[in-house]
Amino acid sequence: MTLKVDEVLSMVGGTGENSYAFNNNIDKGKFGRPKAIVKQNVLELYSLLHPKNFVTADLGCSSGNNSFVLFSDIVDGINESCDKLSLSPPEIHLFLNDLQGNDFNTVFRSLNEHKEKLKKEKGEKFLPFYPVGVPGSFFTRLFPKNTVHFVYSTLSLQWLSEVPRGLVSEDGVALNPGNIYISKTSPPIVPKLYFEQYKRDFTMFLKHRAEEICSGGRMVLTYIGRSVPDHSESVGNTYIWSLFSRALNEMVAKGVIKAKDVDTFNMPLYKPSMEEVKLVTQMEGSFDIVEAEMMEPFWEFSSKTEDWVKCDSVKTGVLIAKEMRATAEVLLAAHFGEAIMDDLFSRLAEIIAEHISKEKGKHVMFTVAFQKRD
Ligand SMILES: C[S@@+](CC[C@H](N)C(=O)[O-])C[C@H]1O[C@@H](n2cnc3c(N)ncnc32)[C@H](O)[C@@H]1O
Repeated sequence: MTLKVDEVLSMVGGTGENSYAFNNNIDKGKFGRPKAIVKQNVLELYSLLHPKNFVTADLGCSSGNNSFVLFSDIVDGINESCDKLSLSPPEIHLFLNDLQGNDFNTVFRSLNEHKEKLKKEKGEKFLPFYPVGVPGSFFTRLFPKNTVHFVYSTLSLQWLSEVPRGLVSEDGVALNPGNIYISKTSPPIVPKLYFEQYKRDFTMFLKHRAEEICSGGRMVLTYIGRSVPDHSESVGNTYIWSLFSRALNEMVAKGVIKAKDVDTFNMPLYKPSMEEVKLVTQMEGSFDIVEAEMMEPFWEFSSKTEDWVKCDSVKTGVLIAKEMRATAEVLLAAHFGEAIMDDLFSRLAEIIAEHISKEKGKHVMFTVAFQKRD
């Protein structure tokens, strides 16, 4: 049976110790380039269109603070453009999108806090904004035609709409046994099926956004990818899923879970290379890529703990495992059961600690700016 991501995926909600909000706080310093790219693209777009009401949408907003890190740059881009052209600033419609299972209550509970922070930060340059929650998959239509000026999304576009079909046959034969994502031991058909699914999904994503974004509108997407044509990185984010598979296989060896449970589970995500992003964009044909950059932050970059840099590998392993738990627990628990989660993530913390004591793990992160073609 194919796992439908929009029915089961959600980050861990609330603000508790295991929540996404608690464990994933990208501080502004670590997000410098995506912020600069968002600001520049909003500035250029606003200078051209200067709409009375500026409509922007965050796709895959989740329930943490990261969305507001970039929203602040949208305000800066608009203000700078208004100053240059002596225009009075617009009001902003802010659409916050995520899947139906997302903890929108936490998002809206924290809104006032964000508003107050932004007011203080911007002073006279604060612009009134009106947030609206939009539940639904970004692989479907979310907004009326030609209504959105600027779309942004951080760390969400690596998710697929479903696990690639064919990884497990109708009669239960697994093509990627012992792995939960593409790994060095996966047969060549596995990355091929993953890429086919990515191509289908990203094409749909672009097609729907092209209908919603008005002429001259822009989109800045920041997401996890890979820096090499194959999937062989041992420091990149692909590799973290091999460490995950190791933790699960240890549990198989101890008789905690069945080998079949691991063999039949595959993560519904894909880390594209920049070439693949460009290829699909070109094939779909609605957008031009105006800017594309790669960053390589450490695995623990979005952790709340300010001084993670000073942590030893054991503490850092725990931090990274907590980040991963906040992201993947709900999905994994739907397949393996809630009961094994503590065991799984404490094994993962140990395995990560052992790995990073030899080689520091890095994500490969792309920020790509798109302009809609006329
Ligand atoms: C890792 S979180 C990133 C959240 C936030 N943007 C950030 O930067 O911290 C990924 C988010 O994308 C959402 N997501 C995944 N697939 C989605 C889809 N098809 N449509 C809408 N949201 C999706 C997930 O529910 C999750 O909240």
